[in-house]
Amino acid sequence: MKNINPTQTKAWKALEAHFAANKDRQLKQLFAADPARFDKFSTTFGADVLVDYSKNLITQETLDLLIDLAKETDLAGAIDAMFNGEKINQTEGRAVLHVALRNKADREIKVDGKDVMPEVKAVLAKIKGFCEKVIGGEWKGYTGKPIQHVVNIGIGGSDLGPVMICEALRPYKNHLQMHFVSNVDGTHIAETLKQVDPETTLFLVASKTFTTQETMTNAHTARDWFLKHAGDKAHVAKHFAALSTNGKAVAEFGIDTNNMFEFWDWVGGRYSSWSAIGMPIALSVGFDNFDALQRGAFEMDKHFATTDFAQNIPVLLALIGIWYNNFYGAETETILPYDQYMHRFAAYFQQGNMESNGKFVDRNGNPVDYQTGPIIWGEPGTNGQHAFYQLIHQGTKLIPSDFLAPAISHNPIGDHHPKLLANFFAQTEALAFGKSKEQVEAEFVAAGKTLEQVKDLVPFKVFEGNRPTNSILFKKLTPETLGALIAMYEHKIFVQGAIWNIFSFDQWGVELGKQLANKILPELNTSETVSSHDCSTNGLINTWKAWK
Ligand code: F6P
Repeated sequence: MKNINPTQTKAWKALEAHFAANKDRQLKQLFAADPARFDKFSTTFGADVLVDYSKNLITQETLDLLIDLAKETDLAGAIDAMFNGEKINQTEGRAVLHVALRNKADREIKVDGKDVMPEVKAVLAKIKGFCEKVIGGEWKGYTGKPIQHVVNIGIGGSDLGPVMICEALRPYKNHLQMHFVSNVDGTHIAETLKQVDPETTLFLVASKTFTTQETMTNAHTARDWFLKHAGDKAHVAKHFAALSTNGKAVAEFGIDTNNMFEFWDWVGGRYSSWSAIGMPIALSVGFDNFDALQRGAFEMDKHFATTDFAQNIPVLLALIGIWYNNFYGAETETILPYDQYMHRFAAYFQQGNMESNGKFVDRNGNPVDYQTGPIIWGEPGTNGQHAFYQLIHQGTKLIPSDFLAPAISHNPIGDHHPKLLANFFAQTEALAFGKSKEQVEAEFVAAGKTLEQVKDLVPFKVFEGNRPTNSILFKKLTPETLGALIAMYEHKIFVQGAIWNIFSFDQWGVELGKQLANKILPELNTSETVSSHDCSTNGLINTWKAWK
């Protein structure tokens, strides 16, 4: 990947000038000036996904300049480098190949001169065989009963994706009861173990490194609990499987390596749901649906790798994000799915985006002098409307928001879905166009008030509007569509990281806390007063010691 400071490009300077000249532009005016704006600034992905980006503070000139920025920073080269297995995760010396995990074409993808596809396919075949046995009841527990409960023990990328996708694909799920334990807080495993039966429970220990403190602590607790009931260690083989890159540690833990489903160092944790880490998904909805999820992502990969930037959905979303992040100074972005099944979607991309692009050092190792990754947050609509939308509508911060909704509900009960979608459509309209002082006054007059009576109240009822949104409307939340939407956001993150000249696929920022926790843990196990830290940390630790 080329090493280009985006702010030193001609396009960036042109964007700065364009911003200075147009920063007060109003969506109201943009729409009034061009009745075909929706046609110009919306696009479709296949027959099932519509992306409307017309309610953004952009013109064709803005987009052209942003595309110039992508070209000048050699985005095309970066895309090629990723798809061709180059070691673009330089600080860890690794390729970045989640696209290989869902590569349904007959295309070789090489890392260090070796095609990774045969191994990818072999592990997928092994996952398929295992799923069929567990789902079909052929895989028996130590007392001969079929598996009823699956407990995935993992954290971060080894948890968030499987949880989010299992929840999103609930309409496709089978009889297996899925449980997810991530937090090292003993409450998480304790409450989960209350719900399961050792005779019919399969534990999946999901950890790329198989060293993560939270996961290994929970895995040991689960094994102790299981052995308390099952007695014989030989029974572990029927109830524990590992999803990992670290065969040695899996064997040391005592999991039969026949029950290990492998993946590789070129799969980033937060991009690993497509790998063996996706086992809980395949167990929950069956392997064919997992395959369909991958196929949806693969279609988005093809679109991303081959479509001109001007029509390329992940590229357009990324560039629009850069426009707000780097020129308007927006600090956050929301993801607001109007689909209850997608209730963990924003949480998933909170890790996906913030762990990838939350970087202050560029690819030269120098601190950047421009903003990088935004803060990502969100909740499903309409719940968010009754929680934080007030600030998006009338607060002092610019919060670009993505709205996602299915046209067809999996649960078409009464008029729930039209009501949900009326809210979806209304919100982006309200955010864009607001309500002027004149409109507020006219409403009062229509309700029989005089302007004198209401003059003190009017300012509070005004909505400035001009709040930008993307609307992503899809036909139905199928595995294929979900796969495509996930890949769309993955590639958006990639594009932004490439343009910001940062390394999106390492996560050194999580290390310091881990190191310090490892230093503090032994100090908690002594009765001595701790004095090795700053006075605040010492004070907190010593108070805990006194209270525990
Ligand atoms: O939070 C840091 C991190 O390394 C994530 O990137 C990763 O998804 C998570 O920890 C879990 O790691 P592992 O799968 O190795 O247990």
